[in-house]
Amino acid sequence: MSLAKRRGFVFQSSEIYGGLNGCWDYGPLGVELLRNIKEQWWQTMTFREDVEGVDAAILMHPTVWKASGHVENFTDPMVDCKECKARFRADQIEDAMCGSPAYKGRKAHKCQAEGKFTEARQFNLMFKTFVGPVEDSGSVVFLRPETAQGIFVNFLNVQSSSRQKIPFGIAQIGKAFRNEINTKNFLFRTREFEQMEMQFFVKPGTDVEWFGYWKEQRMNWFRGLGMQADRLQFHQHEPDKLAHYAKDAYDIEYSFPFGWGEIEGIHNRAAWDLSRHEEFSGKSLKFFDEQTKEKYTPFVIETSAGASRSFMAFLVDAYVEEEAPTADGKMELRTVMKFHPKLAPTKAAIFPLVNRDGMPEIARNIEADLRSQMRVFYDDSGAVGRRYRRQDEVGTPFCITVDSQTLQDQSVTVRERDSMRQERIVSGRLLAYLKERL
Ligand code: GAP
Repeated sequence: MSLAKRRGFVFQSSEIYGGLNGCWDYGPLGVELLRNIKEQWWQTMTFREDVEGVDAAILMHPTVWKASGHVENFTDPMVDCKECKARFRADQIEDAMCGSPAYKGRKAHKCQAEGKFTEARQFNLMFKTFVGPVEDSGSVVFLRPETAQGIFVNFLNVQSSSRQKIPFGIAQIGKAFRNEINTKNFLFRTREFEQMEMQFFVKPGTDVEWFGYWKEQRMNWFRGLGMQADRLQFHQHEPDKLAHYAKDAYDIEYSFPFGWGEIEGIHNRAAWDLSRHEEFSGKSLKFFDEQTKEKYTPFVIETSAGASRSFMAFLVDAYVEEEAPTADGKMELRTVMKFHPKLAPTKAAIFPLVNRDGMPEIARNIEADLRSQMRVFYDDSGAVGRRYRRQDEVGTPFCITVDSQTLQDQSVTVRERDSMRQERIVSGRLLAYLKERL
């Protein structure tokens, strides 16, 4: 967290006012990392011929949330501590700390054991607001708690406009809001976050096979972007723990420093969503198969990843502290973010070895050539070793140094972040060299 703040990945929201609980801002490097994660996901999903994208509104007709079951079911049990007035999720009390001066620093369940908690009440996690100037019950709308419903209500619009046939999917990336009772663990449980969801519509009876397919695809996506395999696992929901809409569900979990935590859910939602929207809207959402002349309500296989949670997992996964040799042969500790090159916020840094003999001019020319193709950084301050360390800390995969040999043969050194190996490359070949490796 300290590196994330110091190097501009993540800041507390409204920090100068003391912050707002459960909300975070992405800084200059954080926004690049987040965009790269979302871009990789978007490409993986929508470069396929059987998946289309949408970007639906955050505010939706309030009946959507009755149909989806959120008004009725999207609740957590809440208890109040009678001493300190703090609120806790009754089912997560073991992890919570009491705020009462008498119990400060003690786990909240100690209070409960002494009868200091109110009875549990159900608390709906949706944020309410109003459309238009009159704040009455007729104008209530909700900030969406998931992006999925924007996809379900557009199922037929997308299917008919893109002329897709079952099976096909709809993908969306966007903000979601949940008034979590307790936010915790940095970006893990926040009140405002981003989701990357894809709903795949299939013929009933083929759902089990597609569920298995998407489960594997999604696990491979995290691994393919460099996430360490032994820090990833599936967790199947037990039948009595399934969400109201799910027939089967697996989480992809990442081993965070605080333990295993879900980063994505893969759900077999069967016909729940489309049938409910048919019921509540009175409109048919059935698919007619021209070939077999069958008409049916498709089943849905959902892949629902948190962009913000994935961001945190990629950040944690990349963070390494290791021994590295200095220029004079001693060993020192270096912090390095070993991001996959596709995710790294900055792709290359360019350094003149010294600020004279025409080296800065050559380095600036190289920077200008590369800048139109990728995010690069120019740095001419301090010893080269220190410049390397600064780039290691933000995960820049390549550092290019212009030195005295460059003046003779136009070659530069390219140093790779993880191996720290250096190669001499003729500057005219640099772009092709980097593109191949990025
Ligand atoms: N449409 C299904 C759905 O929303 P979910 O398991 O509630 O399922 C999916 O959420 C993903 O969204 C989670 O795996 C997680 O990555 C992310 N997510 C959910 N609540 C979150 C929160 N409060 N803060 C950050 N990410 C959250």
